[in-house]
Amino acid sequence: MIASPKRQISPVVISTALGHDGRGIFPYTLLPGYRRLLAAVRDTGTTVCTKSATRFKRRGNFIPANPLTWKYIRRLPDMGMLNAYGLTNAGVEVCAADIRRACDEGFKIIPNIYPEFIKGTAIAIRETLEAVSIYQRSLGPHFQALELNFSCPNSEEAIAKNVVQALQATRKVRSLYPRLFLIAKLSICHPYEFAQELERIGVNALHAVNTIPYNIVFPLQRSPLNEVSGGGVSGGPSFPLALKYNEELRQKVHLLLIMGCGVTCADDVQRYFDLGADAVSLCTLALRKPQAAARIVLKFNA
Ligand SMILES: Cc1cc2nc3c(=O)[nH]c(=O)nc-3n(C[C@H](O)[C@H](O)[C@H](O)COP(=O)(O)O)c2cc1C
Repeated sequence: MIASPKRQISPVVISTALGHDGRGIFPYTLLPGYRRLLAAVRDTGTTVCTKSATRFKRRGNFIPANPLTWKYIRRLPDMGMLNAYGLTNAGVEVCAADIRRACDEGFKIIPNIYPEFIKGTAIAIRETLEAVSIYQRSLGPHFQALELNFSCPNSEEAIAKNVVQALQATRKVRSLYPRLFLIAKLSICHPYEFAQELERIGVNALHAVNTIPYNIVFPLQRSPLNEVSGGGVSGGPSFPLALKYNEELRQKVHLLLIMGCGVTCADDVQRYFDLGADAVSLCTLALRKPQAAARIVLKFNA
């Protein structure tokens, strides 16, 4: 479906921060800076990876309408964030219809799906395939690529242990959709051998890395979100570890790499490119300083 994959992914990618459909998250959409970012993203044809959907509606920890759950997303010093969102979403049918609207408005969207391995491998694979077919039906020609999220630190599924299931699911999607551009989103907890096996299976790109479990970034501290497995750290505090993981990953695989995690300025983007990134993703910066994210989008993607 993608003739020249490299050209289909913009140098800077916005990951998650524009919501489940890529058109923005309420109430951020009330902020002028965030709206300017949305306009810059659309006008430059910037690639947007959506927030993860699951096959069916899922209630995580953070529920936008319930203020008692807002504690699951919080700010950290140094432009960081800690979140235990927990994959709350309306399910693929709803997300796909909304993504279609975003595509029709001119956004370049890559849907992100989270296979729920906790339900068992066979069910998770079946649901993932159903999701792919729903996206295909809803998005038509706009459906050129799919991101598989194997790396959420805020679910009950243990990330480092999902490797075998993730490989099985990827093989199945690959064999049924040989022309779909597949991106696997990795965690810092994943061994490099996982990435190498994904490359052998025929994944087109890797996105490394997702938020980093709190206890890895701050090994001597107790997470304020300890009761929900600690949460994931993003933004500034996660940058050194993410940079190190990506540096080594670049030596281990040859396929296209979207590097990210921890970017807080244009220099950080450049540091990832200097390591050999094919694209660099931003999330936390887009939520905390959307004007700065917009400037980066205009600098690298215009
Ligand atoms: C509040 C929040 C929600 C997130 N939700 C998802 C998600 O649903 N799916 C996913 O693959 N990554 C999700 N992420 C991870 C980001 O896409 C990104 O990979 C991570 O935050 C590291 O990049 P950053 O330091 O630029 O934020 C989320 C991050 C944050 C801060």
